Amino acid sequence: MSVLKVENIKKRYGKTDVLKGISFSIERGDVISIIGSSGSGKTTLLRCINFLETAESGKIYVNDDLIFDAENPCKLTPAQKRMRQLSFGLVFQSFNLFPQYNVLENVTLAQRIMAKSLPDYSLHKKDILADINERAVALISRVGLSDKIVSYPWQLSGGQQQRVAIARALALNPQILCFDEPTSALDPELTGEVLRVIRDLAAENITMIIVTHEMKFAEDVSSRVIFMDEGVIAEEGPPGLVFSNPSTERLRAFLNVFD
Ligand SMILES: Nc1ncnc2c1ncn2[C@@H]1O[C@H](COP(=O)(O)OP(=O)(O)OP(=O)(O)O)[C@@H](O)[C@H]1O
Ligand SMILES: [Mg+2]
Repeated sequence: MSVLKVENIKKRYGKTDVLKGISFSIERGDVISIIGSSGSGKTTLLRCINFLETAESGKIYVNDDLIFDAENPCKLTPAQKRMRQLSFGLVFQSFNLFPQYNVLENVTLAQRIMAKSLPDYSLHKKDILADINERAVALISRVGLSDKIVSYPWQLSGGQQQRVAIARALALNPQILCFDEPTSALDPELTGEVLRVIRDLAAENITMIIVTHEMKFAEDVSSRVIFMDEGVIAEEGPPGLVFSNPSTERLRAFLNVFD
């Protein structure tokens, strides 16, 4: 069973066809790296998969359940809509932490809001909030920030902020964790600490899609690499093959830039 199946996703802005029919599927525990030159549609694809944009055509399945169908946008059940919201975690290049909240509050905020709609919330409020905090503390420790739990984003380095963003995304227990160039706003030394956390998650079989320009990292961590070019998947395969033996001229040219 595929954890995610994307079928023929198309997206245009104005007259520009940005995604021209993207299809792929991933299995639980897969780590997919998406590479490709600027403007090839990588961010747009992640945004369509995460429903920050609505694709004009195509279908998306999570665990074989249809959660998006461009042809029949209104036919999802409430349970399917909820699954759609909870299926994905997204970590952006720019961290996007809430500046007015400390690390623990950033990691727990979404869960605290969602908990309020539980039927027995007022009855068990204390226990529910204690559970949420306990899980968050464990996640913050997992990304190596136990000593920063009450710090505010402005008191943290970029690499630390990005690790908080990863803990926050994990807090909702997503089926698939997506990263859009998670290290491109960071200095090389801070890049290493974020990549280390992602590497640990990969070792723990967290399913991930990572848009990255870190070719060495993509080669090391991925189970599969997708090369996008002008809105299509131009090439895909295991990293050993894609990086050492590219079959298209476009990918050869793209990889040459990183040598
Ligand atoms: N909201 C938008 N409105 C109009 N055009 C857009 C919008 N978002 C993206 N585009 C266009 O879609 C194309 C693909 O953009 P996208 O951001 O997906 O590329 P990318 O592969 O992520 O590039 P990069 O590596 O620079 O991040 C570009 O030509 C871009 O100008
Ligand atoms: Mg992008």
